[in-house]
Amino acid sequence: MLGGTSEARALVEALASRADLAPSVSLAGRTRNPLPYPAPTRIGGFGGAQGLADHLRAEGIDLMVDATHPFAAIMSMNAVEAARLADVPLLALARPAWTPKPGDDWQEEPSLPAALAGLGAAPRRVFAALGRNEVRALEAAPQHHYLIRSVDPVEPPLAVPDAGYILDRGPFILEAEINLFKSHGIEVVLAKNSGGTASAAKLAAARALGLKVVLVARPPRPDVEPAASLSEALAWIDARLIDARLHARSASARRGV
Ligand SMILES: NC(=O)c1ccc[n+]([C@@H]2O[C@H](COP(=O)([O-])OP(=O)(O)OC[C@H]3O[C@@H](n4cnc5c(N)ncnc54)[C@H](OP(=O)(O)O)[C@@H]3O)[C@@H](O)[C@H]2O)c1
Repeated sequence: MLGGTSEARALVEALASRADLAPSVSLAGRTRNPLPYPAPTRIGGFGGAQGLADHLRAEGIDLMVDATHPFAAIMSMNAVEAARLADVPLLALARPAWTPKPGDDWQEEPSLPAALAGLGAAPRRVFAALGRNEVRALEAAPQHHYLIRSVDPVEPPLAVPDAGYILDRGPFILEAEINLFKSHGIEVVLAKNSGGTASAAKLAAARALGLKVVLVARPPRPDVEPAASLSEALAWIDARLIDARLHARSASARRGV
């Protein structure tokens, strides 16, 4: 399991107690104290697709699930190539993107710089939920007041005159998001279109308060068999296990075992 998302953890939790499977997880190591998974977990890059393919072979991995974040595009491309090199079936657990509902004031931009431009030239009070990797891009639009939420501290702080920081990790709830935005006088929510439920409350809070939302659109993902839910992923895994057992049984029969 290529992890790093709440969906990855939920899938490993669903698999961990099964006697017919031995799930293991890989994390990039971006978060200092990741929540533990109930399965052996390795941390750090593989050194590209070839490194991941070597890992698949060395560990005798039979199935791979790419349950990384929709914005982890490099890892997902590497997973496709590694699956091909090591001949391991690959599933992408791809949560659907968020779509606007009645009452939403959304603007979706193809990149973070374009989303920043979408905030406009006049200073606004912006809630930014971007993660540490991308947040430094905000320095290109220093006229805004930023309230930045991340799992780990943004170090060093951004080189902008007016920024506040909150350390927190999802799942987030609607009432708390509404109170947060009200107490900080937030006018605009800036985020990636990550999809999923863990961090969707900020969008519902923006809707409730009539705030503008500027979203960064998802990067293109490789063409991999997708599962949009936990149950679809479990069904895919079970189908592959049945295939593998039938294959082993017919091989034994051919050998007369
Ligand atoms: N991007 C986001 O917005 C976001 C948000 C929440 C969680 N995450 C999680 O954070 C991790 C990194 O995301 P990213 O956007 O930085 O990825 P990325 O840009 O697609 O990947 C960059 C490199 O990081 C390593 N890597 C990424 N995910 C890995 C994993 N699960 N296990 C081992 N190595 C991994 C790989 O290094 P090598 O080439 O050396 O193998 C990969 O080439 C992922 O696990 C993702 O699920 C990302």
